[in-house]
Amino acid sequence: MATEESFAPAKINLTLHVTAQRPDGYHMLDSLVVFAAVGDRLAFDPGPRLSLAVTGPFAAGVPADGSNLVWRAAELAGWTGHITLEKNLPHGAGIGGGSADAAAALRMLGQPDLDSAEALGADVPVCLSAVAKRVQGIGEILTPLSNTPALDLVLVNPGGHLPTPTVFGALEDKMNDPMEGVGTWSDRGWLVDWLCRQRNDLTAPAIRLAPQIATALAALEHDAELARMSGSGATCFGIYPDAEQARSAAARIAAQHPDWWVQPTRSIGARPAAIS
Ligand code: C5P
Repeated sequence: MATEESFAPAKINLTLHVTAQRPDGYHMLDSLVVFAAVGDRLAFDPGPRLSLAVTGPFAAGVPADGSNLVWRAAELAGWTGHITLEKNLPHGAGIGGGSADAAAALRMLGQPDLDSAEALGADVPVCLSAVAKRVQGIGEILTPLSNTPALDLVLVNPGGHLPTPTVFGALEDKMNDPMEGVGTWSDRGWLVDWLCRQRNDLTAPAIRLAPQIATALAALEHDAELARMSGSGATCFGIYPDAEQARSAAARIAAQHPDWWVQPTRSIGARPAAIS
C-alpha cells in the first residue's frame, strides 16, 4: 500500500453551553460545532512497526510516542507503520488539535466507530466527520445539521497553552440553560443572529486563566459580526460578511500582534465534506 494522506480540520465551537456536571466530573454540553478549511495533515506508510514523526509550525511540544492520540488510534485499529503528523494548528487551543488528528487516524485506518473515538477522548467523536453538528452529552450525542451555511471566519490564538481540565475546573456556574432553536436557520443571516444570542460558558474561566483571550476578542470585535472563544480556549473566532473582509481583518490583527496565530478561513459548508 502506498502512502495515504488524511486532513484533520480545525474544530470550532460556535457555541458552548455547559448544562450540568456528571458525578464522574465530566461536564454535559450543548454546542454547535463546525469545521474549518485549515487543519493538520497526516500521512500513513504501512510497515512492520509503529512510529510517529511530528513536523510543521506547531510541532514543538507535541509528543511523538504512545502518549500521542494518533499513536493510540493506530493501536486501536491494530495498524503498524510510520505516521507523519504535520501540525498546522496550535494545540491545547480549543480547536480540536489532538482530537481532530485522532479522528483522522481512525477514519484512515478503518476504525471510525463511536466507541473507539470515545475511548480516545470526549472531543474525538464529533471530529469523525466534518459536517456541522449539535454536540450534547459529554461529546458523544451528535446531531448533524447539514443545513448550516458556511461562514467566513478569522481564527486568532493569542498564545498560552490552556489544558481543558483546568478551564472546566475553574468554571463556577455549571448549570446553565441548553441552546434553544437549534437548526431552525434557513440562511446565513438567521444563523448569525441566532449565534449572537448564544454563548461560550467557558469564556469567563478561560479569561481568568489567560487574560490575553480578552485582548484577542477585543481585536476581533473591532469589525466582526460576532467574536467568541472556541472550546476551552485560547483560540477565538470572528465571523465576517465575506472572505475579503475576513482577509483584511486578519491582516490588520496580524500586523498589530505579530506574535499571535491569525488565520482567515471558511467553515466547511452545507454538504458533508470529504475529509480523507
Ligand atoms: O475526554 P478528554 O480526555 O478529552 O477530556 C479531558 C478532560 O476535560 C476531562 O478529564 C475533564 O476534566 C474535562 N472535560 C469535561 N467535560 C467534557 C469534556 C472534557 O469536564 N465534556
